[in-house]
Amino acid sequence: MFMLDHKKIISTAMIASAIFFGTAHAGEQAIDGGAIYKVKDGMYTSYAVNTQDKKDFKYGKVPSKTEIAAWDIDVMPDGTGLPEGKGSVERGDELYEVKCGMCHGDFGSGGQGSRSTYPTLSVGSASTETLTNQRNVPDADGPKRAIGTYWPQASTLFWYIQSGMPFPHPKSLSNDDTYALVAYILSINEIEIDGETLDDEYVLDREKFLKIKMPNVDGFIPNIDGPEGPANVKKFLNDPKNYGNGTRCMKDCIDPKVNIVRIKVEINAFEPPMSVERTMKEEKVTGKVHPGQKLYEASCSVCHATDAMGAPNLGNKDAWASVLEKGIDKVYANGINGINAMPPKGGAIDLTEAQFKSAVDYMIKNSK
Ligand code: HEC
Ligand code: HEC
Repeated sequence: MFMLDHKKIISTAMIASAIFFGTAHAGEQAIDGGAIYKVKDGMYTSYAVNTQDKKDFKYGKVPSKTEIAAWDIDVMPDGTGLPEGKGSVERGDELYEVKCGMCHGDFGSGGQGSRSTYPTLSVGSASTETLTNQRNVPDADGPKRAIGTYWPQASTLFWYIQSGMPFPHPKSLSNDDTYALVAYILSINEIEIDGETLDDEYVLDREKFLKIKMPNVDGFIPNIDGPEGPANVKKFLNDPKNYGNGTRCMKDCIDPKVNIVRIKVEINAFEPPMSVERTMKEEKVTGKVHPGQKLYEASCSVCHATDAMGAPNLGNKDAWASVLEKGIDKVYANGINGINAMPPKGGAIDLTEAQFKSAVDYMIKNSK
């Protein structure tokens, strides 16, 4: 998670997480130790994106110190920010099945079919498929951008999971559970720590974490991190071999022997363009609160409040009318078992069927 200090904006990932996190009192939400924000339709009112204005990119409000502190849980490669704690591969496996597998697939194999937007977390044996290897032997498919083959540092894995996952409930995992999940994910990527295989009984803790060497640690050149960064970049750019093997070329330049690495999946644009202006009025919560509202806000709004995931939106009469054509029992059943990009119970496996249905009822009631 990074911040552009000079612009004083909160990154979109932070906003997305901030909007959708947590359960407290219906109608309001503390996203940090200090500020409390009113919630309406699952959106923090002072944060909610103003969808009427998509003309320009607009910057939001200046985050407060407590807001920054609450989301600033970076863990650095040198161990700065890494908390004490421990968790076994076995525990991570259990957690993964309950909280992650419905999106990321068995053993991290990635979402299938219409869930294919959920990233693959492992392509099996990491060491033979790293970016470093593929730079020298480019293969037709390009490098595999999964954790074991691509990520240079395991520290990213720790803070990313803790601040961003599971998708509908970021910041809900304890330090121990995060260690367990990291251990499990490293194990399915067949990564060893200090020569040791990560079998079920393996317990990952802070000390062992600091010994992790990711297979692709040297995959990104030049190394732009740290005080030597600018000098490394200069040296790299001054060596023509690095971008054409020293041969000038003006025509038919792509030579399969040249070390060019293609990356297939690139993000080219945001669609629709995002405005981050926050001008929605805070509204007072009045009258009786629907029993499904809190559940909706905590577990469903992440997908059902916007069009981004293709879910029928809260308030979209046409979308819900056509969903309901198949009959309410079928609709409940589809939600509980999952349908297309909608994971079983929307990923909120802990909800009872009655709770799940009441969240559905809340959406239907507000979409007439
Ligand atoms: C509801 C679906 C869903 C659930 C449940 C979920 N994730 Fe994710 N996960 C996603 C999506 C979508 C992304 C991509 C987010 C992005 O790129 O902004 C993602 C990205 C990731 C990534 C980064 C992968 C990469 O290569 O960029 C990791 C690691 C991850 N999730 C781990 C987990 C773990 C661990 C859990 C369980 C605690 C979990 N996820 C639960 C949907 C989900
Ligand atoms: C990770 C995103 C995501 C989450 C979280 C999510 N949904 Fe969905 N939901 C979808 C998508 C996408 C669809 C549309 C599926 C389709 O028909 O292609 C959908 C469809 C539905 C449907 C219609 C099923 C049908 O028969 O067409 C219901 C009901 C539903 N969701 C209920 C819920 C409830 C209740 C929650 C919270 C407990 C929830 N969803 C959480 C993505 C999500």
